[in-house]
Amino acid sequence: MITKKMEAALNEQIKEELASAYLYLSMSAHFAAEGWDGMAGWMRVQAGEEQEHAMRLFDHIVDRGGKVKLHALAAPETKWASPLAAFKAAYKHEQHITGCIHGLVELAQKEKDHAAGAMLQWFVTEQVEEEDHASKVVQLLERMGTEGRGLVIADRELGRRVAEKE
Ligand code: FEO
Repeated sequence: MITKKMEAALNEQIKEELASAYLYLSMSAHFAAEGWDGMAGWMRVQAGEEQEHAMRLFDHIVDRGGKVKLHALAAPETKWASPLAAFKAAYKHEQHITGCIHGLVELAQKEKDHAAGAMLQWFVTEQVEEEDHASKVVQLLERMGTEGRGLVIADRELGRRVAEKE
């Protein structure tokens, strides 16, 4: 059985993951409207991954005899000044999520909830990858320049991303 404190914290993280999906979907819509199909695709794949993250937490709560409670999501931003600005915002967002996950690991330790602690280790590793992915795109866009041919090439490159199997 999961403690009420841990249950509430994991429910809060479900919201964070779904808010991440919402943010990246909004970025995908923005890129699609601007004609950057590759970046729109990248963000769409990312949004799908965030939904999977939410479902991992959802299943853990259910498997432990807890109750999932979904919270309201705020509307995400809808416009970014440039592709670089959007990916910088994504990178910053992932750093925020890493902080949330570390907070949950510390809570699991405090609550002596070893099952939640083990489940959360997957997220600790995943966040290293999440930050790495976002920061590498920021680096790529910085190198390719913010307009013209460089951005067209970067868009094509980012469009090659496909959903990974877990
Ligand atoms: Fe679910 Fe991108 O962290």
